[in-house]
Amino acid sequence: MERIRELFRLLSESFPPSPKFTETDVPDLSQKVLLVTGGSSGIGLELSRVLYHRGGRVIIAGRSEKSYNEAVSDIKANPPKGLNKFSKGSMEFLKIDLSDLTTIKPAAQDLLARVDRLDIAWYNAGVMIPPVGSKTKQGYELQWGTNVVAHFLLNRFLSPLQIKTAESAPTGTVRTIWVSSSAHHMGPKPYGINFDDINYEKTAQKPKPFLTYGQSKVGDVLLAYEYANIVSDKGIVSLSLNPGNLRSNLQRYIGNFVRAIISRLLLYPPRFGGLTELYAGFSPEPAATKGFAYVVPWGRIGILNKNVQTGLEKHDTAKKLWALLEKETDKYM
Ligand SMILES: NC(=O)c1ccc[n+]([C@@H]2O[C@H](COP(=O)([O-])OP(=O)(O)OC[C@H]3O[C@@H](n4cnc5c(N)ncnc54)[C@H](OP(=O)(O)O)[C@@H]3O)[C@@H](O)[C@H]2O)c1
Repeated sequence: MERIRELFRLLSESFPPSPKFTETDVPDLSQKVLLVTGGSSGIGLELSRVLYHRGGRVIIAGRSEKSYNEAVSDIKANPPKGLNKFSKGSMEFLKIDLSDLTTIKPAAQDLLARVDRLDIAWYNAGVMIPPVGSKTKQGYELQWGTNVVAHFLLNRFLSPLQIKTAESAPTGTVRTIWVSSSAHHMGPKPYGINFDDINYEKTAQKPKPFLTYGQSKVGDVLLAYEYANIVSDKGIVSLSLNPGNLRSNLQRYIGNFVRAIISRLLLYPPRFGGLTELYAGFSPEPAATKGFAYVVPWGRIGILNKNVQTGLEKHDTAKKLWALLEKETDKYM
């Protein structure tokens, strides 16, 4: 029975109803500072487009200034429908390479020197199914290191500023959003993280492509959950989300033929993923849960994979991951 329920949840996340929360529901963002990792392409670009055209100071973090400049031209030239009469914000580039932990501290210090508040951080950048064996500079499996470890470290630097921002900001408006995926249903058994061998170095058999991506997306859920435990009484809302299945550069490692078919049958324009991330950032609904929430397309409160939920509730997987990553990232602080 639970399997059938899971299947229905997956179908509902893959073929969602029309969005109820759209660009014009985003409040005026003047005076707000907003960080988007991976904001130069795909979903992050669509998110940044709306943030800028609603008047926010948007910090786009990425590894390529060229991609950032192209994104800025696109965003300025193409306001979202319905927002072209609003005041413009500003955009800034923050150089960071999430596949190299030594770049995180300089990037965070650069940001902290520029801003005196941080209203919302979307940890959105990510990589999916690169060639098996791809690693970060520090030797982490590439998806784990990029999607999970680097964002965890970045958050360690930014958390004090968000806590300070929350002291004077309206309740529920300071948020940290850890972008996950429906692929969190595909993490390793039993609870989504293979704690004995996270980087899959000990097994002779190569992991299936979506197993390690799924594990990284479980990691994002767990960090959102544990961070909510740590900071919800300090006024920060910590959420995770599945943005939906969108056409973007994320599918860059899938062969062209398969990519074309998947794109036609399953993927939506990236604007819709931006709407899921905007709902997580600005809708009062996910903040009302007073703790962790998992948001699904195109802006609804969803339900986590049952095994992942069991791991959280009965086996302290989030606490375990948090402690492990603190230990591993201490030397990059
Ligand atoms: N598209 C989907 O169907 C889908 C579904 C579920 C979840 N998601 C999640 O949504 C998020 C956004 O994905 P997307 O679809 O918008 O894909 P995308 O177009 O590939 O965007 C990903 C962004 O992450 C950046 N990035 C990757 N590695 C990086 C690194 N080492 N350092 C700094 N930035 C890095 C990329 O920059 P470069 O251009 O420099 O690589 C790019 O700007 C990801 O977390 C993804 O897992 C997407």
